[in-house]
Amino acid sequence: MKGYEFSRLLPSETWPLRAAILWPEKEVGPGCELDVDAAEGALHFGIKQDGLVVCVGSFLPQVHPENSELTYRLRAMATSASHRKKGLGRMLIQGALAELMKVQVKGVWADARHAALGFYARLDWEVSGPTYEVTNRGLHRLVWVRIDE
Ligand SMILES: CC(C)(COP(=O)(O)OP(=O)(O)OC[C@H]1O[C@@H](n2cnc3c(N)ncnc32)[C@H](O)[C@@H]1OP(=O)(O)O)[C@@H](O)C(=O)NCCC(=O)NCCS
Repeated sequence: MKGYEFSRLLPSETWPLRAAILWPEKEVGPGCELDVDAAEGALHFGIKQDGLVVCVGSFLPQVHPENSELTYRLRAMATSASHRKKGLGRMLIQGALAELMKVQVKGVWADARHAALGFYARLDWEVSGPTYEVTNRGLHRLVWVRIDE
């Protein structure tokens, strides 16, 4: 997409959007780290406009407890509020899944916020199972996609 560049990010480059959008009680800094951010195989992706990160998503190796084919978990997916509904989230996920396919990952899952379920559904992810509460973060459902087909 014109003017936007998809790339790998350092974990620390995700912190500003994580703090601004997902975890507003946090300040930009190490408090925005996930314990698995530096795990072997962890991949952080972003979309930049003029060098500024406007969309982030982290793909972390974690097998879903009930489906061993879903070996990566998407966490901390966010698009800057002023850049939403322009296709950036789609661009990030498509780029990330292409990279994961190269390393033989077969499926990705996420605990998706209720407000974002429609986004995953538009990208043809499955939405399944019950609604559950994640402490301090509200209602979620499982979303997942196979990427080896
Ligand atoms: C959810 C989020 C990442 C989507 O990012 P985005 O860059 O706006 O997404 P896109 O523009 O690529 O949207 C792709 C498609 O999904 C649709 N869509 C986007 N957000 C949606 C939502 N919340 N509900 C329903 N549909 C949505 C778009 O309209 C578009 O549809 P189209 O295929 O008909 O054009 C963004 O709204 C966000 O950061 N929300 C706040 C944080 C959050 O909830 N993150 C997810 C945590 S699980």
